[in-house]
Amino acid sequence: MEGIKIIGYGHALPEKIVSNEDLSKMVDTSDEWISSRTGIKNRYVSEQETNASLSLAAAKEAIADSGKKEEDLDLILLATVTPDYVTPSVACRVAAELSVKKEIPVFDFNAACSGFLYGLYLADRLLKVGQCALLMATEQLSKITDFTDRSTCVLFGDGSGAVVVEKKKEVSFDCFVGADGNAGPLYCKSLRFTKDAYIHMNGKEVFRFAVDKIQKSIARILEQNHLTMDDIDYVVCHQANYRIIDYVRKKLHAPEEKFFCNIQNYANTSAASIPLALYDMRQQGLLCPGKKVIVVGFGGGFTWGAALLDC
Ligand code: UT7
Repeated sequence: MEGIKIIGYGHALPEKIVSNEDLSKMVDTSDEWISSRTGIKNRYVSEQETNASLSLAAAKEAIADSGKKEEDLDLILLATVTPDYVTPSVACRVAAELSVKKEIPVFDFNAACSGFLYGLYLADRLLKVGQCALLMATEQLSKITDFTDRSTCVLFGDGSGAVVVEKKKEVSFDCFVGADGNAGPLYCKSLRFTKDAYIHMNGKEVFRFAVDKIQKSIARILEQNHLTMDDIDYVVCHQANYRIIDYVRKKLHAPEEKFFCNIQNYANTSAASIPLALYDMRQQGLLCPGKKVIVVGFGGGFTWGAALLDC
């Protein structure tokens, strides 16, 4: 089957780590509440870093890891809900720092926490066999977090994940994405610092949507590819809440080690959470050749998507 394969991984994180303990000095919360409800222990929060500086660092690492050169890129994509500017796009600012010689498409897009899945979908459709793309997913959710609202400020973090993907002829790849326009339960009206500029969320409604959509998405990917859970080595869900991931895992009777989870270190980094998880898995030696991985995203919009990847 023709499709894309990830051939390089990169990441970047702000310097500052904020623990649950730190947050409990700012709002009425506790490490016990945050850990037991979400699995989160720490998150990274930007100070000097910009979306572009994090993206560039992640991009350079992914390109070096892929063995490709900057001038080999045929497409540059960046998923974010927290760009530095309205224009130019973060992707254009990254491209300006790379040796991109060809005339290629370079753009940002917003599919909230499903951004990485939308990026895989776009890369697969926009590339021809032999061509490669840089896909970055970078968020600075601290820019749009109300640090006086305990119901949201404990949940989010900043970070960037990047991959280089190449279009290949013989590869197991499948990807679908969707959206339903249900904007009520999770929205942020603007990047300007007004009350509306912060993330507003009906956590319970998002939780119900997430567990339903993840299960259906995994089932669809398995069915479309004539596979069962036994054929899959790892499932990487958008890291929004450990309880969401664990709920789905138990429903599917899958062992704990099959559902990778690193939310304890980063909190919810929206579009960046899946590439940051893939990066950590690669570092831990989990993504060996021949392994099959399902990645599943969901988020504001509502949006969702899933993909089957060959390592
Ligand atoms: O990227 C996609 C976006 N997001 C998600 O996927 C999030 C999905 N939803 C969730 O993860 C969970 O719904 C939350 C973690 C957001 C909340 O967990 P919950 O079990 O649904 O808690 P809750 O909102 O029902 O709150 C329970 C209690 C409330 O107190 P009362 O009304 O029972 O007295 C809250 O006021 O916990 C209180 N609470 C807190 N207490 C301490 C809410 N936030 C906090 C907090 N610290 N940070």
